[in-house]
Amino acid sequence: METVVSGIRSTGNLHLGNYYGAIQNFVKMQYEYNCFFFIADLHSLTTHPTPENLHGNVKQVLVEYLAAGIDPEKATIYIQSDVPEISELYLYLNMNAYLGELERSTSFKDKVRANPENVNAGLLTYPVLMAADIIIHKATKVPVGKDQEQHLEMARTFANRFNRLYKNEYFPEAFAFNFSANLVKIPGLDGKGKMGKSEGEGNAVYLSDSPEAIRKKVMRAVTDGGPTSENQEKPVEIQNLFDIMKVVSSTETLKHFDNLYNNCQIRYGDLKKQLAEDIIIATTPIRERINDIANDVDYLRKVAGLGAEKARESAGKTIREVREIIGFRRF
Ligand code: TYM
Repeated sequence: METVVSGIRSTGNLHLGNYYGAIQNFVKMQYEYNCFFFIADLHSLTTHPTPENLHGNVKQVLVEYLAAGIDPEKATIYIQSDVPEISELYLYLNMNAYLGELERSTSFKDKVRANPENVNAGLLTYPVLMAADIIIHKATKVPVGKDQEQHLEMARTFANRFNRLYKNEYFPEAFAFNFSANLVKIPGLDGKGKMGKSEGEGNAVYLSDSPEAIRKKVMRAVTDGGPTSENQEKPVEIQNLFDIMKVVSSTETLKHFDNLYNNCQIRYGDLKKQLAEDIIIATTPIRERINDIANDVDYLRKVAGLGAEKARESAGKTIREVREIIGFRRF
């Protein structure tokens, strides 16, 4: 059976982008593959959380994984920092990752632009840690959103380089995956780029948002003055709302509003109302479970403990073999 690995950084509540880009695939894949889904708390250290925030955010992602339907009996759910073998592999891969290629990563460049005062080495080698996450379990499929495509390419580069250096076809290549064939990018509500945690207030709809909060955010989404001629191309902020509708609403609803747009009869207020209600329908069962699971600390402890054990078993086997391949041998 093929192995699947994916993770989400512990930097706060999960949003619709995380859900449709990653988690929805996790839930489906757990029945068909040998799955490892983790909480990337080591990656979150690049932005220096306080100890309280770190712990709270890890808990939040764990709760939301479970609330979204990841079954700890089917998939291995674990916290990245519970598996020290990942950090060890990261160190080995770092010896073989070059400054030039790391500096060329678009997400690194974006982060440097956004936070020029915090360009740390962890940020630079973020894709190396991500490669370690994936190849530690010899995964071949990685369910992620479109924004992670370049990181996956880098993971293949590092794995192949290790294989070449040690003349050993040890690590397989891993590819980004989405059940819909194409990787998705869920846009935000601000009329600009993708939905994201750090893109400003009101841009992201969280799985834990109340119906009132969702209605408020969607009604405030950026729109234009409306179409002026039939079948005209949609400006980006309008296309964004249709793109969100594509994942949360029925095809009939989407077609209905598309026709209204094309006939210049659309009323954005109606579109937004429908969009908000469809988001509420999609997220309500998850939100309700979030509240229940968050209160069950015993259950969370059990899930994290079991996950750590299973993940370490798999990672331990790899690291023992890697040490042997590199030439660390016992006297
Ligand atoms: P992160 O935490 O930024 O995002 C987690 C997952 O959600 C997806 N995603 C989106 N998909 C579609 N539209 C959006 N607007 C959107 N926003 C986020 C991301 O593509 C991702 O799949 N580096 C990773 C975490 C990670 C990882 C790994 C992933 C660490 N190690 C190993 C896979 C394998 C990250 O920062 O994702």
